[in-house]
Amino acid sequence: MFSRSSIERASVFVAGLVVTGSLVNAGPCDIYSSGGTPCVAAHSSTRALYDDYTGALYQISRGSDGATTDVTPLSAGGVANATVQDLFCASTTCLITIIYDQSGSGNHLTQAPPGGAFSGPETNGYDYLASAIGAPVTLNGEKAYGVFISPFTGYRTNDVNGTSIGDAAEGMYAVLDGTHYNNYCCFDYGNAETNSHDTGNGHMEALYFGNYAASGSGSGPWIMADLENGLFSGADPSSNPADLTISARFVTAIIKGEPNQWAIRGGDAASGSLSTYYSGARPTASGYNPMSKEGAIVLGIGGDNSDKAQGTFYEGVMTTGYPSSDTEDAVQANIVAAGYATTSLTSGPELTVNSSISLRATTACCTTRYIAHSGSTVNTQVVSSSSDATLKQQASWTVRTGLGNSDCFSFESNDTPGSFIRHSNYKLMVDANDGSKLFGEDSTFCPQSGLNGQGNSLRSWSYPAFYWRHYNALGYLGSNGGPYDFDATTSFNDDVSFVISASFA
Ligand SMILES: *[C@@H]1O[C@H](CO)[C@@H](O)[C@H](O)[C@H]1NC(C)=O
Ligand SMILES: *[C@@H]1O[C@H](CO)[C@@H](O)[C@H](O)[C@H]1NC(C)=O
Ligand SMILES: *[C@@H]1O[C@H](CO)[C@@H](O)[C@H](O)[C@H]1NC(C)=O
Repeated sequence: MFSRSSIERASVFVAGLVVTGSLVNAGPCDIYSSGGTPCVAAHSSTRALYDDYTGALYQISRGSDGATTDVTPLSAGGVANATVQDLFCASTTCLITIIYDQSGSGNHLTQAPPGGAFSGPETNGYDYLASAIGAPVTLNGEKAYGVFISPFTGYRTNDVNGTSIGDAAEGMYAVLDGTHYNNYCCFDYGNAETNSHDTGNGHMEALYFGNYAASGSGSGPWIMADLENGLFSGADPSSNPADLTISARFVTAIIKGEPNQWAIRGGDAASGSLSTYYSGARPTASGYNPMSKEGAIVLGIGGDNSDKAQGTFYEGVMTTGYPSSDTEDAVQANIVAAGYATTSLTSGPELTVNSSISLRATTACCTTRYIAHSGSTVNTQVVSSSSDATLKQQASWTVRTGLGNSDCFSFESNDTPGSFIRHSNYKLMVDANDGSKLFGEDSTFCPQSGLNGQGNSLRSWSYPAFYWRHYNALGYLGSNGGPYDFDATTSFNDDVSFVISASFA
């Protein structure tokens, strides 16, 4: 009932603009089109963005055999069929390899190539691909998956068709997770350089979300514009108190630009209307007026491939022309009507907060070995009821509410209270909680049904393609088929599956 009335409201707004036909089932790009500012790129892993779109939304690749498949909507204009992914990825890992452009312009997003900055050496300069299961949600009760961007993850197309270049007008929006961000450059979606290098001021016009540069009011995160060599909240890069800190779980973020005019708008993607955080002249610093947009499209990275930021993308589009506020308000009503909501991040045998547990390896070599630690090093050790008290303590952990996300868990050492299992440089360590946001995120793990069918596998909340793995009796954070020896696909499922029981001590 709620969603239907919102859709009808959307159609009323748009009908007031241009259209004659019914837009009761209009998607965001139908609305932009009727406003005279059509989508030239339309990306979403969660739903179709046109009312008649039935094509592929995104492609996934699985760890077990490298096979790929496309995820399509349940119906024309509908939500993604998550069952396709769940069946295809059963008992293995999956990465998102392509986010298709639904606009017909062919602007598909794929693994970002090396650029001018922060090229991840582990993957020959190519950014990581996102885990397919890092950002589960529901849309009006139907399960779907967003694109969870960890640091060093990014998508891009430099071979573009129809996006705005030079000082030409454009608009864009994205629906994001307002609680997933950091203070590094740059979680962006939008217009960037076609050579993956910084080619100067005004060569980008992309949405930015995060708290990298203190710029708005409060402590962030903020919606800003990455215009290259500057994140802007208004005309002056250093401050715009009207650019408010965002606190919604689901965020609609908008920027748009035309000759000597641009704007930032935003709101709660699950309810209510949009606010305008800035609307006015271009920045006065040299190079931003007129703009020199190049038209490539980035997701999760800066124009020069700066890739240390994090965030979650559910859907977004780029338009030609400067969309009217009425058009954007109708798109916001459509997004609200889509009914974004959270869902569980965990599966498999349930863990109980404050219970004390031990975790037994399930690989054939090692079924008497348990996750333990020696000082700050996490290892596996053979433990039994006749082991001495010290060893029993080393292999015993208290389950805590996740320090970085309360839907997952952290594991406190029973013999070193205040210290938790965390990942650092792909190793599992036991370190004292320093209270930082980074420590909380590095020590938060989401249990899921064990990949080999036994117990649980524990994936990192902040790097969901990475799992606790024992390898040569040490604890690592391994990705299936990644670059290191402890990422080997051989025995991966067994090495990341642990049977959890009451603790030894
Ligand atoms: C969703 O995908 C599953 C698995 O491929 C399929 O069996 C089902 O028919 C699909 N649902 C719709 C509505 O297409
Ligand atoms: C470029 O976009 C136009 C309009 O959307 C489309 O008709 C054309 O096929 C696209 N070209 C390519 C190479 O995808
Ligand atoms: C877990 O223990 C902590 C510390 O004793 C306590 O504050 C918290 O309320 C407990 N949580 C649950 C869910 O029992």
